[in-house]
Amino acid sequence: MKIIDNIKELKEEISKLNGTIGLVPTMGALHNGHKSLIEKAVEENDNVVVSVFVNPIQFGAGEDLDKYPRQLAEDAKLCQDAGVKIVFAPKVSEMYSDNKDNLTLICPPYDAVNKLCGKSRPGHFDGVCSVVAKLFNLTKAKKAYFGQKDAQQLFIIEKMVKDLNFDIDIIPCPIVREDDGLALSSRNKYLTEKERKIALSISKALLNTKKLFNSGINDIKNLTDTCLEIMSELDVEYIEFVDRNSFEFKQEEADNDTLVLIAARTPETHTRLIDNIVLCK
Ligand code: PAF
Repeated sequence: MKIIDNIKELKEEISKLNGTIGLVPTMGALHNGHKSLIEKAVEENDNVVVSVFVNPIQFGAGEDLDKYPRQLAEDAKLCQDAGVKIVFAPKVSEMYSDNKDNLTLICPPYDAVNKLCGKSRPGHFDGVCSVVAKLFNLTKAKKAYFGQKDAQQLFIIEKMVKDLNFDIDIIPCPIVREDDGLALSSRNKYLTEKERKIALSISKALLNTKKLFNSGINDIKNLTDTCLEIMSELDVEYIEFVDRNSFEFKQEEADNDTLVLIAARTPETHTRLIDNIVLCK
């Protein structure tokens, strides 16, 4: 496995590869959720490239760019053990030529970004789409793997690929959870022991919503209120019900195509966590 930090060498190595290329874009601090993406990519492609890049242009002012966990040696070990061919871990200056305030960006449409996570994180999805598009171009991957935990990100990237005719298949991968239900996230590292317990109420609220839905309750106001009760110790940013295919809000009643999404902050470290569940029976 090669660890590459510059674009010139990445292009040279990519041009030497035989067979198909799969890409797993990450910001590092790899956990079992990333591992599941990487393993799927290794199964489905002759060569797998994992990018490890904490992308500054998707972080807003006051967000956790500086404290975001960076652990390249451990990440590289996980990749090596999984059978990855290339870890691409560039510096910011390599990706953006010290020019990150004056870049050509990909801006997804207002309707897709002005809600859910995009509402409290203006510019976030411009940053995500722009770096992902660069990685698609640099790696020439034919498949790219994204986790369903970042459901809005996945929706927006799929739309970008369709709208801009990128020659790549986006492969959605299921959320990976701890045994007790907590969705894996690199940001779980920020949680205190007490917060770790409180954070569990997010997945509890989602699983309970699915249970209530399966028992015949589909009134969104009712389901939302129950979620809020379960998550009373968290600072809830949103609980939304959307159509899983269009991401249009559902107002009155949930159905089999409804995706329930939650974002909430923990009380001490104010860690922002997201999770979601599809309500299909
Ligand atoms: O999901 C992430 O980790 C990031 O948003 C991504 C897709 C690697 C782009 O920086």
